[in-house]
Formats: sequence, structure tokens, C-alpha cells
Amino acid sequence: MDQSSTPLFTALRRHAERNPLQFHIPGHKKGRGSDAEFRAFLGDNALSIDLINIAPLDDLHQPEGIIDQAQKLAAEAFGADYSFFSVQGTSGAIMTMILSVCGPGDKIIVPRNVHKSVLSAIIFAGARPVFVAPVRDRNLGIDHGVTTTAVRRALERHPDAKAVLVINPTYFGVCANLKEIVDLVHSYDIPVLVDEAHGALIHFHDELPLSAMQAGADMAATSVHKLGGSMTQSSILNVKGNRVNPHRIQTIFSMLTTTSTSYLLLASLDTARRNLALNGRKMAEHAISLARYARREINAIPGLYCFGDDILGGEATFSYDPTKLTIHVRHLGITGYEAENWLREKFNIEIELSDMYNILALITPGDTPETVDALLRALREMSDTFYRVNEAKELVVKIPEIPQLSLTPRDAFYAETEFVPLAESAGRIIAEFIYVYPPGIPILLPGEVISQANIDYILDHLQVGLPVKGPEDPTLKYVKVIVEEPPIS
Ligand SMILES: Cc1ncc(COP(=O)(O)O)c(C=O)c1O
Repeated sequence: MDQSSTPLFTALRRHAERNPLQFHIPGHKKGRGSDAEFRAFLGDNALSIDLINIAPLDDLHQPEGIIDQAQKLAAEAFGADYSFFSVQGTSGAIMTMILSVCGPGDKIIVPRNVHKSVLSAIIFAGARPVFVAPVRDRNLGIDHGVTTTAVRRALERHPDAKAVLVINPTYFGVCANLKEIVDLVHSYDIPVLVDEAHGALIHFHDELPLSAMQAGADMAATSVHKLGGSMTQSSILNVKGNRVNPHRIQTIFSMLTTTSTSYLLLASLDTARRNLALNGRKMAEHAISLARYARREINAIPGLYCFGDDILGGEATFSYDPTKLTIHVRHLGITGYEAENWLREKFNIEIELSDMYNILALITPGDTPETVDALLRALREMSDTFYRVNEAKELVVKIPEIPQLSLTPRDAFYAETEFVPLAESAGRIIAEFIYVYPPGIPILLPGEVISQANIDYILDHLQVGLPVKGPEDPTLKYVKVIVEEPPIS
């Protein structure tokens, strides 16, 4: 196939150039009906291809023309049999993966540290999650992925599972041996679904971890918008082999997708695919070499630590993506959240995420030696400001144990509920999500028994200002739990 072509984007441009008289939505009609300031800021080019699924422009819900051609090119570029474009982020692609293989009562093996979209899909499907504990890194205070050994144990106990979902790479760029996990799961003839939200580039460079399609996985939700250069909210679902049914996937995708699909997002996927197919290796190379330089320099800054090859060797740490800089700031005596705010206020630098102990900075093809040096200058000053000043005490890494799931998430979600004070909720079954965003991984999910350690963990996060989200009461004073019938005496 000709990877230099962009059937979707080119057709949209030609359509706009023909300048048809439009009597259809969007009502702004090439920007003329838009707010003047917004139109001037965005430019008429963008607004002229903000179109909808009129006949010449194909339909994402049943692609037969330019969208079909663009998706076929994407499949080839990502080493898949089929690619489906998502205008609802990787969350939409993840929900589609799960709903296309799981129905009510079906088991699905998933790591406990999954993104909330996985658990939303499990609730929609009425499926039963079998949780596998991720490997916890107690030095860094982060979770890695699941190991082959843990997946093997889960399969031995639940050989009737309908799918196994793994995260590869994690938000912090760490990977277990995906190929080994895929081969193991396939020996049970069960499909492997990969959350590849943080791996859009890995397919294009052999120094990066193996991609889901390279490892032979059946489906992968890949955030082209996060690292592959397309616009925010656009993503892709790649599919391979015959354990999953592409027609069923198309149907589910369509059920979950708006009928007013954004052609700006679709065109950005088409062009990002071209760029990745033609220049992906060079783009990745650029990011890798800048990140290697940054990592070396960061590790020479007093009080900072950024893991690299030294993390390898464990079962959950088989490979890693060096372009993600996880900077451990605990030895400065500040939280990651404080570091994030300090960088914003003092240096106008925005990082990807922070937690209690770390900040995550992403080096991408969009970086230059200048941007990396600006980050390094700020980190050096942060170290000068905090390291060994006021005899800072080291923080103790606290990660609560995985809660016990006593009801399926769906049963808990739809059960009779009441609100109780969070501080007094230990022992109760929660009926809503509580998660930290980013990364969007639940501390508690519907059906789990709240422990005192969970409550302390939530309060610790709130106290330092980390973004704890999800419950109906945004102040988190009250939490929604399942009503318990008092014993009749
Ligand atoms: C591991 C993981 N999976 C899935 C998602 C969802 O991706 P999106 O924001 O494109 O819906 C995210 C988002 O941060 C994520 O971190």
C-alpha cells in the first residue's frame, strides 16, 4: 500500500476546495456561523473540514470509502489485520475491546491497576473481573504490569475466562514479557487485549518495547493522540488473528460512538498514520536520544532519581520505554504534586502527571535539545531549593493492599445505596469509583470492601492536593455504599 497517501485527509481537502453550498450540519458552515474570535483563532482551514458523514465522505459507522481506505493503511502501518478509528479516545477503543468479547457473567482477567474505562466496560457488560495484582515497586511507589507467573495462576484457576487484558507499557513506560504472556494465554485459546494507551510509538522502533501487534496480541487500543501525533481524543483499535470477530467489533464500536464523528479527528489520525509509517523510526530515534541525555543528567542532580536500564531484570520489568522520564522526588522532601506545582509556578513547565513521590515528564518527537535543557535547568534549581534544606524528612511510601471484591461491579453499581461519611465507611461495600486522575486508576471500584487503609490513602492524597475524583460527592466527605440490612432480632 502507498503509505504516503492520505485518502481521508486528501478527500476532505478536495471537498473543501470544491466549496459546495452546504445545507447540512455543522451549522457554522465553514466557520461563517462561528464565534468571530474563535474562528479567527482557529482559522478557516480547520473549520472548512469540520464536516459530517455526507455520502462523499464515508461513514465511520459503516466505512466503505475514504475512511475504509484510511483504516486499511493504518492496519498495515501498525502490523494489524484491521484497524478501527476512534473519536472517543482510547477509552472508547478499550470499551469496544471488552464488550466485543464479554457478556453478562463472563470472566475477564485484568490487572487491578487498570484505567477506569476497563471497569466501566465491565459494568456495561455485566462481566466478572478476575483481578491479577500488579507488581508493586515499593521504592518508587508505583505499580508495574502483571507477570507471566501471575497470569498463569489466574488461567489455571479460571480457564473459562473470555479474555485476558494487559497494560503494555504502563503509564511509566514499563513492560512485562508481553510475547510470553500472549503465547501462554493463546495456549488456552483465549484472546489477549492490550491497553496500549502509552505505546503509540513503540511499534516503530526496535529499541522500544515490543508492540501488542508484534507480540501477536488479538486487540490493542493504541492512543495515537497521546504520543503518535494525532489530535486529542482520536485513537485506534488494532485487531489481529481469528480469535475475535471484526464484524462484532465494528457493531460494538458503532454502538458506543457518536453519530456526529469529528472529521478533524479522523483526518488527524489519517495524517498521523502517514507520518508514523514514513518517519516513525526517525521520530522515535529523536525522542529516545533526547531522553537518554535527559536521564543521564537528571541522575547527576542531587536528590533526584530517574530509573533506566537498572530497573530491568524483574519479571514485571522486562523492558521499558526510555522516552518516559519518571523522576523520583521523594529525597527532596517534597511530594510529586508539590514538584509539579513548583515547576508550573517558577518555570511555566507543565508535566504529564505527579503522584506522592514522582513526576512524569514525557519526551516526544515534539521535543528539542532546548526544551530538554529547559527542563533540566528547572530540575537543577528544584534540587538546589529543596535538597537537604530544612533537613527534609523522607516520605514513607504507602500503597494500600488491593481491596476485596465482594460483588460484581455491575451488581454493586445498580444496588440499593446510601451515603455514609467516608471516615466511617471502613467495612462497607462501595457503589462508586474513587480514583486519582491522572492516571485514572481506581483506588476503589463498585463492589469492593472499603478498608481503613483505603480511607487513609484517600485522605493522604486529598491532604497534599492530589486530584482524587469519581464519587458523587466531589468533596469526598460522603461516599456511596450498598445498603446493609440490619440483622432482625
Ligand atoms: C493506561 C491508560 N489506558 C487508557 C487511557 C484512556 O485513554 P483516553 O484518554 O485516550 O481515553 C489512559 C488515559 O490516560 C491510560 O492512562
